[in-house]
Amino acid sequence: MEKLIGNKTKIAVFISGRGSNLNSLIKNSRSKNSFFKIQLVISNNKNAKGLNYAKKYKIKFYVIKYYNLKLAEKKTLNLLKKFSVDVICLAGFMKILSKNFIKKFNKPILNIHPSLLPKYKGLNTHYRVLKNKDKYSGSTVHLVTQKLDSGKIILQKKIKLSKLENIKSLEQKILKVEHKIYSAAVNKFLSNL
Ligand code: GRF
Repeated sequence: MEKLIGNKTKIAVFISGRGSNLNSLIKNSRSKNSFFKIQLVISNNKNAKGLNYAKKYKIKFYVIKYYNLKLAEKKTLNLLKKFSVDVICLAGFMKILSKNFIKKFNKPILNIHPSLLPKYKGLNTHYRVLKNKDKYSGSTVHLVTQKLDSGKIILQKKIKLSKLENIKSLEQKILKVEHKIYSAAVNKFLSNL
């Protein structure tokens, strides 16, 4: 990866829905202490609310349908190349990228996952945390590898559950944490390269 002094690393954010983490990344990227800029946003869902943040901040965005994975990944790789993207940040992107994609991109891919990995990989994390009556949960930013939610952890933050916690309240609590740690993790990761 080329990292020129004074130049911010070019990031692409992949989303599928609400995009609140995209919003927090955009906000952080605009501060002068941030090491990255959001070069483009990709969504597999044309109705993703998060696309409104790209519009608001005039960031280029593309909707790529992921029905045919091979074709979709090819289009995605072309865009990443066109926009000289150095790092991908997955932020609520609900598709699993193939081995081939990870290999061809050949640059770092980060993801944010709403649990204390390695606990609760995959979906419905809050439901499972509550069902198991865990005292703590949290969020983890990690590198994406070919094994789901298993790459090296960059940053993790723990929160304590309250006695009356439910899925909604837990989701809100964790999102609040995520909006701080995703940018912090990206900056930490980039400063260590
Ligand atoms: C976040 O909780 C993130 O950890 C998970 O999906 C959710 C996305 O939320 N991967 P948003 O679309 O960023 O609001």
